[in-house]
Formats: sequence, C-alpha cells, structure tokens
Amino acid sequence: MGTDRDTQPNLLNSNDSNDLFFVRECAFEDLELVKEVNEKELPEDYPFFFYKSILDNFQEAFLVACLKDKPEKIIGYIMWRVERTPSKHSLRLINKGHLVSIAVSNEYRRKAVASALLSKSMPALLKHQLKEYVLEVRVTNYGAIKLYEKFEYKTEGIKKKYYKDGENAYYMVYKVEKD
Ligand SMILES: CC(C)(COP(=O)(O)OP(=O)(O)OC[C@H]1O[C@@H](n2cnc3c(N)ncnc32)[C@H](O)[C@@H]1OP(=O)(O)O)[C@@H](O)C(=O)NCCC(=O)NCCS
Repeated sequence: MGTDRDTQPNLLNSNDSNDLFFVRECAFEDLELVKEVNEKELPEDYPFFFYKSILDNFQEAFLVACLKDKPEKIIGYIMWRVERTPSKHSLRLINKGHLVSIAVSNEYRRKAVASALLSKSMPALLKHQLKEYVLEVRVTNYGAIKLYEKFEYKTEGIKKKYYKDGENAYYMVYKVEKD
C-alpha cells in the first residue's frame, strides 16, 4: 500500500480556507436542517431515523457546511456509510465507502462547498480500511458528475432504472489503492 500522498488526489488535502463557510461534523441537533436542505435540493428524501442511524454509525464523515457570518445556517451536507461487499473481480469481501447523499443549497453553489465536504469526509473514513469509495449519480446530473470526475472518480458501470422515477445511474468508483 502506498503512502497517503500516493493514494489520494491532491484535492483531498487541499486548503479550503475561505470567507464564506466552514465545515464541521454534523450533530443530532442539525438533523432537521440537513433534512430540509435535502428535501429542497434532491428528489430523494429519507425518514428522520435514517439520518439518525447514519449519524450514529458514521458521524466522522457526516459533515455540514455552515455560513461563517451565520453559523446556525446549514448550506450543505454530506453523508457516507461503510459497506462490506464483494469486490468486482472476486468474491473477496472489501470495505467500501458509499456516498449516501451530498447537497448544497442552490444559492451557494459553485463556491467549492461540495469540494470541501468531499475533501474533508473522504479521509475521515479511511480508518475503516476502505478499498474504494463508491457512489451513484443520475446520468443527467452533469454538475455532480463533473464534481466527482474532478475528484478522480471513474465511471465503472450503469445501474439501470436505479432511481424511483426510472432514471439510470452511473456507478462511479474511487480506488484507495491504484492498480
Ligand atoms: C452537485 C453539487 C453538490 C455541487 O456542489 P457545489 O458546491 O456547487 O460544487 P463545487 O463548487 O465544489 O464544484 C466543484 C467542481 O465541480 C464541478 N461542478 C460543480 N457543479 C457544476 C455544474 N453545475 N456544472 C459543471 N461543473 C460543475 C466544477 O468542476 C466545479 O469546479 P469549478 O466551480 O471550479 O468549475 C450541487 O450542485 C448540488 O447540491 N446539486 C443538487 C444535489 C445533487 O445533485 N447532489 C448529488 C447527488 S449524486
């Protein structure tokens, strides 16, 4: 296995200091506001207990972005879970970080909020001995696909009719150890 420098894109170590927002771990008290951002920005919504269970299990990578001049205002979030599933090439089980959801409020987009959320949450999951980070994204979600490509995620397949409305998803993967 290589060093962190060999295995992580520079973006994961990027300095994201800025005047607009800061990123911190989510707390129980934030969950209703996170749910509000999700319901406004994404068609997929989840019951409260789902957020709570992600928080209980993977708080280190459940992050929120807040405004510096109004810290109670949450403008984005990211949440992950860790799954143990077969690797693509064998029946060997490996740990994968699965992106559950990421969203940034419309008025704060293209200000590197999602980049900061990704670059701070991905390393936080490494303690689970991950081999890969994986995610699904709507094939029409151009902005999100560009974001993940910037972070060196590669499309490994299409999941047909993955979403409730029948849209297909790209399955994108970032390997911790490069081949
Ligand atoms: C996708 C999303 C999270 C990106 O958040 P963001 O804070 O605007 O992203 P960033 O500012 O960190 O963007 C980083 C890079 O990603 C790419 N990118 C992000 N949004 C883009 C867009 N709409 N079009 C093209 N490229 C885009 C760009 O390369 C961008 O870098 P640049 O601004 O220097 O060109 C946000 O658009 C969003 O919340 N969308 C709705 C929810 C959603 O689709 N979530 C993903 C589900 S899989």
